[in-house]
Amino acid sequence: MQSRTNNAPSDEKILILDFGSQYNQLIARRVREIGIYCEIRPFSIPLDQIKAFNPIALILSGGPSSVYDEKAPKIDAEVFNLNIPILGICYGAQLMAHTLGGKVVPADSLASREYGRTETEFDTNSSLFGNITKKSITWMSHGDSVKELPPHFVAIAHSAGCPFAGFEDAGRRFFAVQFHPEVSHTEKGAEILRTFLVDIAKAKANWSMANYKQTAIDAIKAKVKDGKALLALSGGVDSSVAAALMSQAIGKNLTCVFVDHGLMRKDEGDQVEQIFSKYPINFIRVNAQKLFLDKLKGVSEPERKRKIIGEEFIRVFESEAKKIGKVDFLVQGTIYPDVIESGLGSNAAVIKSHHNVGGLPDYVDFKEIIEPLRFLFKDEVRQLGRELGLPEYLVSRQPFPGPGLAIRIIGDITEEKLDVLKEADWIFRSEIERAEVPEASQYFAVLTNTRSVGVMGDGRTYEYTLALRCVSTTDFMTATFTRIPYDLLERISHRIVNEVPHINRVVYDITAKPPATVEWE
Ligand code: XMP
Repeated sequence: MQSRTNNAPSDEKILILDFGSQYNQLIARRVREIGIYCEIRPFSIPLDQIKAFNPIALILSGGPSSVYDEKAPKIDAEVFNLNIPILGICYGAQLMAHTLGGKVVPADSLASREYGRTETEFDTNSSLFGNITKKSITWMSHGDSVKELPPHFVAIAHSAGCPFAGFEDAGRRFFAVQFHPEVSHTEKGAEILRTFLVDIAKAKANWSMANYKQTAIDAIKAKVKDGKALLALSGGVDSSVAAALMSQAIGKNLTCVFVDHGLMRKDEGDQVEQIFSKYPINFIRVNAQKLFLDKLKGVSEPERKRKIIGEEFIRVFESEAKKIGKVDFLVQGTIYPDVIESGLGSNAAVIKSHHNVGGLPDYVDFKEIIEPLRFLFKDEVRQLGRELGLPEYLVSRQPFPGPGLAIRIIGDITEEKLDVLKEADWIFRSEIERAEVPEASQYFAVLTNTRSVGVMGDGRTYEYTLALRCVSTTDFMTATFTRIPYDLLERISHRIVNEVPHINRVVYDITAKPPATVEWE
């Protein structure tokens, strides 16, 4: 039987009910930045579950629907009898008005729709806006508008197109804003959220990674007791932080299997061993480069490469797991955006499934899955890694695909090509880091299978073309190429052709995503 640990890691919690807005993760991020633990749940969760979660306040998110649509997401009106502060945002504001007896109408003209930056005037006598100036810019994105307020509500903000940009029933501590306080374009958004949470909901706001670490360690200890746990360590941020956390909680009862497929970047395999072999755990490194290269021999089709690597990874892990025998827990480094995107934590449709360790649980004999990072966003995972004492180069590591350098060598893979790419990639990365290019989110080299003519000394060469990829992005769904200064590009190119054999030409990829992807394969 498989089950998941689901204990919330704090007593002081905010619940965000999800009505489908693209900004929901941002709301959660903002709340946590203020120092309060929160979770996002689908709008449809039963009242009992809301009560069991025991939030100190509720936030109703935005969403794309209209309250008067037949299939519009609704809320149990009993929510308004829980005697806790409630903040409605955009659709959440309209739903609050609609549910409590006000009137929402569709945009009757283009003028009454508002999208984007909007000058908004606030009633600073309202407890929600007591800490901000009378006028500032908010981010609006709505067609429908509240036309009539419910009984006991008063208007507390307006814009040119929206007479009820904010409204409240201060007595019951119900507040609503038509704009999005969670987006950075809303100039006073962070202050408004803080006022709601700290002044109105009386949050102590003392949730931090340091106390999260201790709570998580205590919870893991209580759950695992004397049981045995197994973790597939990839060397990436998530599995490394999960390993460090589990190690502090259960020490020797944790076995980490690091399948080194030899497709990591320069020295990374050894670095992983150096760190984790010092931990008081059972650390097993499987040097499987030869095995993987044999399987990949002559394979040039990208999807085939991915499939072979995925299958081989599971096979090697499985054979190690068999040596260990039955374990009680399998540890996975799932993080909160995965939980939300898989549809478990929220209302959003399934966006992606795990591509790195897909199917792993079926191959290992275990009773339960533990996901100790299940409630954390990526930057919180990094922060936790720092609290646990992991080195900065590991916790701040950029995303790296599970199939590793195999999908950065175009065409078939050989040991020689791997060595060439590792060296060139290392030069590129160290130069970017030395120059501190702040907008570079991910940067790496790609060994193309194009050869071209060059001249070195007096001789003609016929060698590989190396492509450099460096992108700026926040979510990796869209990206632009980073404007690396020409001087820096020149130095990188010069170093690579001089220091790395078999490369006589370097090009820079200047394509955005879309239409290109970040990786070349
Ligand atoms: P693309 O190439 O799809 O990449 O624009 C977006 C981000 O995802 C990373 N990526 C992967 N990560 N396994 C992963 O864990 C994979 O198979 C994989 N493929 C792409 C990529 O590095 C970029 O950050």
